[in-house]
Amino acid sequence: SPQSSNSMWAYKDYFIAGIGYTLLISAIAVILGFALGVILAFMRLSKNSILHSIATCYIEFIRGTPLMVQLLFIYFGLGTVVNIPALVSGIIAVGLNSAAYVAEVIRSGISSIATGQTEAARSLGLSKKQTMQYIIFPQAMKNIWPALGNEFVSLIKESSIVSIIGVKDLIYQSRIVQADTYRGVAPLVVTMVLYFIVTFGLSRLMKLWEGKMNHDGK
Ligand code: ARG
Repeated sequence: SPQSSNSMWAYKDYFIAGIGYTLLISAIAVILGFALGVILAFMRLSKNSILHSIATCYIEFIRGTPLMVQLLFIYFGLGTVVNIPALVSGIIAVGLNSAAYVAEVIRSGISSIATGQTEAARSLGLSKKQTMQYIIFPQAMKNIWPALGNEFVSLIKESSIVSIIGVKDLIYQSRIVQADTYRGVAPLVVTMVLYFIVTFGLSRLMKLWEGKMNHDGK
């Protein structure tokens, strides 16, 4: 470690490594969470009571228990059966957690598209699948987008919990820098600023995309 200096700049490599892990975990977990979230949303909307029940139980259970406990369960609980590396456990926990929140965002977005839209499309001769694919889902996505963006920002912040199982993310690195420099506050300030840059940048990006979606008239 850079012993000659206790300035934060001297520890930039630690913070860069931390952001790298934080972004890696978040990026994979977003994909996992979105894919599973879409499936769960349709399952919950389904008339098939078995699919509906499975999705409902999953969503309620995940949202009703702390992410921290879910993470510890995947790493240490499942760890008694299969050895999942900390990084992978972290990605799985954050992804599976986000899926439940994404599912509810998507479900409410789809429900909010008036039944009139379905009736109109169906009476024009579109099949159920076509109606969902071409009429309901595109309109729902437009309404859902801001809420989905909020969830992605939450996910980045919530991913900080993986530091408790030793994943070397931004929070983990800030602790290393604190211990190494005997400075309590400065590493926290750097960490806060870095998280803010990432989340603010992302929400700006989502806003841009939102505007584009509206301009395309889709
Ligand atoms: N921190 C809270 C928990 O432990 C909220 C998690 C929210 N997760 C999310 N993907 N939005 O349960």
